[in-house]
Amino acid sequence: MVSGTCFAEWGNNVVCMDKNAQKIDGLRKGRMPIYEPGLDELVEHNYAAGRLNFTCNLAEAVTGATVVFIAVGTPTRPGQGDADLSFVYMAARELASLIADDTVVVVKSTVPVGTGDVLQTIIGSARKAGTFSVASNPEFLREGVAVSDFLAPDRVVIGVEDERANRRLIELYDSTTALRNTPVIVTGRRTAELIKYAANAFLATKITFINELADLCEEVGSDVKELALGIGLDRRIGTSFLMAGPGYGGSCFPKDTLALLRTAQDYGVTLGIVEETAAANDARKQRMAQKVVEAFDGDIDGLTIAVLGLTFKADTDDMRDAPSVPLIKALQRLGGHIRAYDPVGIENAAMVLDGVDFFEDPYECAWNADAAVVVTEWETIKKIDLAQLKQHLRQPVLIDLRNILDTEAAEELGFRISAVGRPASPDSSLQEIGKRRDRQRGFKTERVDPFSIAIREK
Ligand code: UGA
Repeated sequence: MVSGTCFAEWGNNVVCMDKNAQKIDGLRKGRMPIYEPGLDELVEHNYAAGRLNFTCNLAEAVTGATVVFIAVGTPTRPGQGDADLSFVYMAARELASLIADDTVVVVKSTVPVGTGDVLQTIIGSARKAGTFSVASNPEFLREGVAVSDFLAPDRVVIGVEDERANRRLIELYDSTTALRNTPVIVTGRRTAELIKYAANAFLATKITFINELADLCEEVGSDVKELALGIGLDRRIGTSFLMAGPGYGGSCFPKDTLALLRTAQDYGVTLGIVEETAAANDARKQRMAQKVVEAFDGDIDGLTIAVLGLTFKADTDDMRDAPSVPLIKALQRLGGHIRAYDPVGIENAAMVLDGVDFFEDPYECAWNADAAVVVTEWETIKKIDLAQLKQHLRQPVLIDLRNILDTEAAEELGFRISAVGRPASPDSSLQEIGKRRDRQRGFKTERVDPFSIAIREK
């Protein structure tokens, strides 16, 4: 959806094809199949301009096209860990006889190394060699900010094996790369395929690193947010993807780390760091319920817990591998009743969660609950009125798994609050003891804004 729409935005004629007639029908009527900020306006505008069309008919989509993108799903094969490539192969088989000579078939789906070679053979069995190209063009956009990630990428990666594909893809991306001086990395197909997995595995590792440090921070009385800034301002490290939380989820990191491990295994290579990342993240997601239980001395049987945020991250309705799911299931197993709030994810959440009362309003969700647990960093939750939240809760217990609430303000209102990578209980924290001592002496605790230091040093 995002790639097709943005290609149209650059002035290309685009036809998006899907086998799901309901989706295509909806799109023609202006109904988006996914929640993605900014996408609906762009679709509407390009559809009205006649540059963007939708069809269920593959022949209609690919006949006469100079470039055909395969952007189907490559989910994890249940119990196997590797990517299920059946949709990719099916698309290749079906389009092989329909494309015109000179067409470049580009794989946008995230696929293991060597998939392009297989596609070359599949399409080659229906066409003369040399009359078509197969290229790889991995996508690095993030859900929630997908449109701006696509229109203004950090880099474009193109994996090609011939000049036709090289030229065609460079031309296609010229609208953004020339304008913004965006680096275009042209590699062989196999390298491009691997770049995608390496990027996701690296980012997943970065998150897991900060999450493990967060655990240590909790024990020693340090603050992981300040720690992340303290290391992240070193340009070699970078501040992004250092937000500690309940573990990464979504349709990409969990799936892609597993698929990369499977590739490594197939080739007899050990990727120990990625192995550890995948295992640590899984364990972390299972462990988050513990934070809630600890707030009640180990027993939540019969208590009502308000879960604020269900989707795997903000600005999406995607529930795939969302940390809220293992958390809620574990709390239910321990006898907790769950009320849950999400601004856009309820419909998808209801398909994977049982026995949960859903609310579109966070305060209503908190009504008469014994604790509120923040799981997704939605703006509506960041901006929640803590005093009002406290009035709705039965007990003033707040567990912030995203570190987005103002801990000090919450404490001042009388909340018992615990967060991630910050001292669990105010009383056991050296930092808090220091702050209390200062208050007793009549001092206001001054916190130095680390950004101001960075600016001064510059
Ligand atoms: C990810 C990559 O960031 C994209 O570059 C890539 O194109 C995409 O996968 C893909 O392969 O299609 P996405 O899954 O949409 O994008 O979302 P992210 O923003 O990367 O977040 C993934 C998970 O990591 C979320 O659960 C998020 O909450 C978590 N996260 C992210 C953290 O816990 N801490 C952070 O600092 C950043």
